[in-house]
Amino acid sequence: MSGINYSEKIPNNVNLSEDRTLQRALEHWQPNYLQWWQDMGPDGSQNFDVYLRTAVSVDPQGWAQFGHVKMPDYRWGIFLNPAEQDRKIHFGDHMGEAAWQDVPGEHRANLRRIIVTQGDTEPASVEQQRHLGLTAPSQYDLRNLFQVNVEEGRHLWAMVYLLHKYFGKDGREEAEGLLERNSGNADNPRILQAFNEKTPDWLSFFMFTYFTDRDGKFQLCALAESAFDPLARTTKFMLTEEAHHMFVGESGVSRTIQRTVDVMNQLKTDDVAKLRAAGVIDLPTIQRYINFHFSVTIDLFGADQSSNAATFYSSGLKGRYEEGKRTDDHVLKGNSYKILSVEDGKLVEKEVPMLNALNEVLRDDYITDSKGGIERWNRVIEKAGIQFKLTAPHKAFHRNIGSLSGAKITPDGRVVSEAEWNAKVGEWLPSNEDRAYVASLMGRVVEPGKFANWIAPPVMGINRQPVDFDYVRFN
Ligand SMILES: [Fe+2]
Ligand SMILES: [Fe+2]
Repeated sequence: MSGINYSEKIPNNVNLSEDRTLQRALEHWQPNYLQWWQDMGPDGSQNFDVYLRTAVSVDPQGWAQFGHVKMPDYRWGIFLNPAEQDRKIHFGDHMGEAAWQDVPGEHRANLRRIIVTQGDTEPASVEQQRHLGLTAPSQYDLRNLFQVNVEEGRHLWAMVYLLHKYFGKDGREEAEGLLERNSGNADNPRILQAFNEKTPDWLSFFMFTYFTDRDGKFQLCALAESAFDPLARTTKFMLTEEAHHMFVGESGVSRTIQRTVDVMNQLKTDDVAKLRAAGVIDLPTIQRYINFHFSVTIDLFGADQSSNAATFYSSGLKGRYEEGKRTDDHVLKGNSYKILSVEDGKLVEKEVPMLNALNEVLRDDYITDSKGGIERWNRVIEKAGIQFKLTAPHKAFHRNIGSLSGAKITPDGRVVSEAEWNAKVGEWLPSNEDRAYVASLMGRVVEPGKFANWIAPPVMGINRQPVDFDYVRFN
């Protein structure tokens, strides 16, 4: 069951060949996908041989096989975690009933919307990152970028499979739409705003994979609880791939900090101008990038009060993070939860029904998780003997969704006037000058084992290969 059939056009572990109609429909979508990859995937890299991991089974041990492949030849396919026998719905109004192997009519529209929204983010991030290969700080990093890109492509396949198999003609149309919308396109943008932003430089890329791929993790964890069993099984497998994306982000930021503190110690200075003259990214700039990516990403969880969130939960479509590990009644009818809003120029907490606040619950779980990496980055600074602490901004800072939308709140949670905001925003969010400076550092380094001046080498290579391994052969 968990072995993957690679003898077919579309590798899969779902016995695709037994469903000819579905197989034909997906084989019809496949060339459109490949065309999209050519047009919108990694720029100028189609002919490179890249040291990629490919899924060969869905067993937790050793599903990954490593080898040099041209990206257009990557074996994108459909991999679901094995079915759990007699799986039951474990939250919401249908608790205790058998998990659904098909889509119940009354939940069809909502499930389709959830799957399309998730599916839309996957190719969007590939589009956002498509030019980064031209300015990679090393072969090692270039390989990691491409690994993330091919796996986001596979996540698109995961959602398209569900659309084709369970949603008929509507699903096939949605699958086409996933290739037609494009990140940042004025006429036909991606669904969620964070996925229409640019990822213009490698610091942004590392921040994106740390913060925004982690949003992906939390959304997938919530969907892995779903009563719709095929969705739960496919998102469980996606999560095993997602871990590497967040590693790329966390270690990338960590190595950037490492290089900065090394130079700070060499030059015995924390003077931003001197550090910039030495070609490293000063810690206050890194803090502003954190503030930006953190705030934009927590908006992705949606409004703090949402009747949709209540419906999705009560009907069993989307659970909470680690639903199974919680000890409450998993129905949440009488429960309440605290959310924030601004009243009379002050931030206040108010209690609202928990079912309506489930976006906020997921956002808070995300915030706790994302602070862990910031603490680990601080240890790099501490170890170098430097007095500086990176922090996550207050969750009310720079928000564009829900009751905090547009409120002027500092990174430490003070409500300020428009005038103060305008005067200080350059200390809190990356300025044009910061971005131009970071962009000026982005030059391509391709010799094996060499790294751009602004980033330290990793402690070890990929799949126990040496750091100076030829991760990308340019041909
Ligand atoms: Fe993904
Ligand atoms: Fe990802």
